[in-house]
Amino acid sequence: MTETHRKRVLILVTSITGTTENFARAIEKDLKSRTKDEIDVVFEKLKTSADGQSMAGSVWTMTKGVFSKGATKIDPMANSILDFDFVVFGGPVWAWDTPRFITYFLESLPIRDYKGEWFLFSTAESNFGKMEEGMEKVIGKKALEHGRSVSKDPNRDKTAAEFVSRILPHLGVTEAGDAPAPSGTAETDTNDGETSEQPAAEPQTQNEESGLKTD
Ligand SMILES: Cc1cc2nc3c(=O)[nH]c(=O)nc-3n(C[C@H](O)[C@H](O)[C@H](O)COP(=O)(O)O)c2cc1C
Repeated sequence: MTETHRKRVLILVTSITGTTENFARAIEKDLKSRTKDEIDVVFEKLKTSADGQSMAGSVWTMTKGVFSKGATKIDPMANSILDFDFVVFGGPVWAWDTPRFITYFLESLPIRDYKGEWFLFSTAESNFGKMEEGMEKVIGKKALEHGRSVSKDPNRDKTAAEFVSRILPHLGVTEAGDAPAPSGTAETDTNDGETSEQPAAEPQTQNEESGLKTD
């Protein structure tokens, strides 16, 4: 009898003022309820020295971070990405880009030995800038999918469920009575804060076949 490999998913999040963490929790809840016990879902929030800061405090941290690598300290991960098939990584957008502390953190991971896939997501007020490019530059490959959520999303749970709909096909999970959502719909992953039906504020180019965002 062939033993099927049980997929392991790590939801990994950095969050200073709490928005991305709350969003990641919504993803976790939805993913767990829709996959039941088919896959293992592990949640980890990275602990950083900037956690719990106000917006003003974060701006100060960012300013320092431009000049100093150790400005925001991140505790070592509790889990190893090498133990997972799929990593869902999320963090906030700072200055239209990947915050330095996230770049430094990602650089510290054993990326070359990690053979699994990535789903990268971020939260921002409205302008995500080069967030995905910044993260992909460090991980050295394209993520299977990207997800964006505005921080004041009134339909957070629905947006999180949309992300999960795009993750499930990559995990080989099909829901009973429900066709898997099409892959590569990054245009629908962002909303403008008014309704989750709205297209992304900043259109992205899509490779239609693979669903990967192209530069
Ligand atoms: C230092 C700093 C820079 C920011 N830069 C941007 C930005 O360029 N574009 C944007 O839309 N939001 C920006 N924001 C807003 C955050 O991306 C947004 O509030 C995010 O949801 C915060 O996530 P967190 O609570 O998980 O830390 C910035 C916030 C801070 C503190």
